[in-house]
Amino acid sequence: ELEETASFAQIDLLQNSPFMRACRREPTPYTPIWLMRQAGRYMPEYRLLRERVPFLELCKSPELAAEVTVNAAERLGVDAAIIFADLLLIVEPMGFRLEYAKGDGPIIHNPVRSAQDVEGLREMEDAAPLDYVLQAIRLTRRALPQDLPLIGFAGAPFTLASYLIEGGGSRNFMRTKTFMYSDEGLWNELLSRLARSLARFLSAQIEAGAQAIQIFDSWVGTLSPDDYRKFVLPHTKSLIESISPRAPVIYFGTGTAGLLELMRETGGDVIGVDWRIQLDHAWQRIGERAIMGNLDPVTLFADLPIIRDRARSILDRADNRPGHIFNLGHGILPQTPVENVVALVEMVHEMSQRRETR
Ligand code: CP3
Repeated sequence: ELEETASFAQIDLLQNSPFMRACRREPTPYTPIWLMRQAGRYMPEYRLLRERVPFLELCKSPELAAEVTVNAAERLGVDAAIIFADLLLIVEPMGFRLEYAKGDGPIIHNPVRSAQDVEGLREMEDAAPLDYVLQAIRLTRRALPQDLPLIGFAGAPFTLASYLIEGGGSRNFMRTKTFMYSDEGLWNELLSRLARSLARFLSAQIEAGAQAIQIFDSWVGTLSPDDYRKFVLPHTKSLIESISPRAPVIYFGTGTAGLLELMRETGGDVIGVDWRIQLDHAWQRIGERAIMGNLDPVTLFADLPIIRDRARSILDRADNRPGHIFNLGHGILPQTPVENVVALVEMVHEMSQRRETR
């Protein structure tokens, strides 16, 4: 019985943390902050570890992944941890040969190029093939401070499909869009299989101990609003509806200034925006949802007064309205000075302290 009491107390601590309160648009004593790619190559400890462990192996070693996750969160003093893993891990059990080539980013050696490729794609019936991520979540949850929420994540159907079709990163998504325009039925089949697999994976991450999840639709800003509505929105919406048990969902993309009203329709609880739009403008369009963002990651290469000024102006635009989670507009770049990242976290905490007199 004692154990049960302790675990209820822990749920309370987590659910009342500034990050979780902000996801629900409840007031917080200061603006919570975490940073996309907060664990990664800009950290000397991470680079040292990577000298002996290849990236994919690191992702598949729950103890190491947990250690990287916890170390980054504690070193930075952020208000949430994000599990160390990768967007593309899910493609392996679905039948794709994945490689992270040095300097080239991820490569998929057998990309989707035909109807047979879509039909041969294995839907993931349960999260067992990605148990190493679930194990990393369990270990991380145990190692983190009791009041620090853990974010699980996956790619969105569109962004994942773009990697599967292009065979890697892309600039103009020519093959992806051509595929989409040329065979709507096949496109819908591909995205449905992805969405169902992703829902199982994200649900399992919540069951394993993640308090919130983020869906990365990093490249969705390449689409026109009409194409987003027709080819992407239904799949993202059905993914978010299928996640069970429920936990707050952060839906993030870059270059989305033309898509925000539609992104809201997915049902995501928090919408993540980049720096190409002002926070207050974005929030107005997102409406009754929480918002995450929106500092340009390159700001972190500037001197501290500039970083402070830019952070200040984002906080001013949020204007103490409940439901702002501070973050960059995209991931931290590998050459970023660590001390500037630490300083940003401190500045945001300090500048956003709510005064009773407001
Ligand atoms: O945020 C975190 O700290 C958690 C870890 C995380 C990684 N990838 C680790 C990683 C997260 C959340 C991701 C998401 C991810 N992965 C996205 C969406 C976010 C975004 O940036 O838009 C995408 C598109 C991927 C796919 C991916 N993985 C790419 C394009 C690359 C290469 C990019 C590069 O900078 O080289 C990766 C590799 C990767 N994922 C690294 C890390 C730390 C670098 C690998 C290394 O150590 O060499």
